[in-house]
Amino acid sequence: MKIYYLWHSDKRRGMDRNQDLKDKREASKLGGGQARVEKQHAQGKLTARERLTLLLDEGSFHEVGQFVEHRATSFGLEKNKIPGDGVVTGYGTIHGRLIYVFSQDFTVLGGSLSETHAAKICRVMDMAVKNGAPLIGLNDSGGARIQEGVVSLAGYADIFYRNTRASGVIPQISVIMGPCAGGAVYSPALTDFIFMVEDTSYMFVTGPNVVKTVTHEEVTSEDLGGAKAHAEKSGVTHFTASNDVEVLRKVRDFVTFIPQNANELAPEPSLYNFNASKLKTIGTILPDNNQLPYDIRKVVKCVIDDESFREVHEDYAKNIVVGFARIEGRTIGVIANQPIALAGVLDNDASRKGGRFVRFCDAFNIPLLVFEDVPGFLPGTDQEWNGIITNGAKLLYAFAEATVPRITVITRKAYGGAFDVMNSKSIGADLNFAWPTAEIAVMGAKGAAEIIFKREIKAAEDPQAKWLEKEAEYAEMFANPYRAAERGIIDDVILPEETREKVVAGFKMLENKAESLPKKKHGNIPL
Ligand code: HXC
Repeated sequence: MKIYYLWHSDKRRGMDRNQDLKDKREASKLGGGQARVEKQHAQGKLTARERLTLLLDEGSFHEVGQFVEHRATSFGLEKNKIPGDGVVTGYGTIHGRLIYVFSQDFTVLGGSLSETHAAKICRVMDMAVKNGAPLIGLNDSGGARIQEGVVSLAGYADIFYRNTRASGVIPQISVIMGPCAGGAVYSPALTDFIFMVEDTSYMFVTGPNVVKTVTHEEVTSEDLGGAKAHAEKSGVTHFTASNDVEVLRKVRDFVTFIPQNANELAPEPSLYNFNASKLKTIGTILPDNNQLPYDIRKVVKCVIDDESFREVHEDYAKNIVVGFARIEGRTIGVIANQPIALAGVLDNDASRKGGRFVRFCDAFNIPLLVFEDVPGFLPGTDQEWNGIITNGAKLLYAFAEATVPRITVITRKAYGGAFDVMNSKSIGADLNFAWPTAEIAVMGAKGAAEIIFKREIKAAEDPQAKWLEKEAEYAEMFANPYRAAERGIIDDVILPEETREKVVAGFKMLENKAESLPKKKHGNIPL
């Protein structure tokens, strides 16, 4: 009888405990409560958990640290504890591939970062590195939890440290879906790619009030650090979207292009399409007049798998185009001078943009395909005083350091130092092709004639006619790909319609390329 009683009581107690757990889980899912959830929705924002539901494959999310609470006791915080402490952390899958995530919950103390909130983020970062899978952070936070003081600042530093240590080991993606201000901006800045939502997100080191006090400038949060400002002016964000749903859809698509970690290749989708009729028009994209612009993206799209181009930094430094694409289903990185913007010159912003993209691709085993049509570096005091020497060197260094398969296609101009910088063979490119329209020389024929035939032009009866004659002579000699081909500086002159097959065969040939850098602690890129 006694034995039966004990068994019965344990079972009842067990049932209570199970219910208790279920209640606790539900309570934690409420975050800061219904009123704050409604406020979040009224601003056009989803909650932290709703966002994870859209980001990850259905039913794949496993939470870690759901019951973690802060330990602070100042300013009445001991009476304001919400399980999870303002950030939902864990792992799940996107298209079946493992991903680690954190999603800040603005309804809990404004998503502010406490000591324990930071520790939860660090925990998933450590798991992501140990298990070799990307980390995606959904940021929506009022910054350091003001009531906690310095421990919160130390928490940020713990995250920055891990962002840096994980750089080049696993891909790190930041999605800014609300405020991100003060030192908090530096975690996203240390990650590989930033996505921002228009109108509801902003990033700045100091907000409009501080700006007004210090510089007397009047500026709104949106103008100072909204998605548009960072997409067009600063280049801080790589992608923008009009709302939470769209941004999460873009992130899901984006991760299909990247590998899980630095020891793996990007996944190969089972199917790809290539409409070969595109190649019938590729030769007509370049205008007859070599001074006229054309959109290099048209050339890129003729060569890569259909619908596979994902441009990065689309609205920033438009004179260089960078982005991911696929060739026979496998991810490549594309870097291309863009003649419709500043004639495709390399300037400070383009050099930094290109350099950073090349380094991501190299760190994560993504082969590089370069389309070159570059008249040189942009002259001027603005460029020189803002460091075109150092910035141009960043792009040069990034290419020269890259050990992934690298192919260059010169469509038209390849002049001066910019020719060397844009993945030339001498800085380690594996295959360099040129179209018959390529012009590979120290400089354009007009300027070259003016310098080397200066005396003859001056002495001529009709200096203008002489100049034109000498310009034509120089152009005849160098405004073609054959001098470079004779010297083996390029590997082959190809017809535009042969580009796809040459690139496909080239990357296949380079599939097992194995090159390593000399042993060192790390290089010293001109930052
Ligand atoms: C604690 C915070 C908080 C914070 C917001 N809250 N920010 N609690 N620490 N940093 C709380 C609010 O008290 C409020 O609580 C709730 O979050 C929502 O905030 P609201 O102000 O009502 O929301 P909203 O009007 O949308 O304004 C959002 C905001 C504003 C612009 C982010 O809250 C704000 O300015 N917060 C402070 C930002 C800041 O200065 N942070 C420190 C930055 S320095 P209730 O209970 O009312 O819902 C920093 C240093 C990092 O982060 C350094 C790293 C090296």
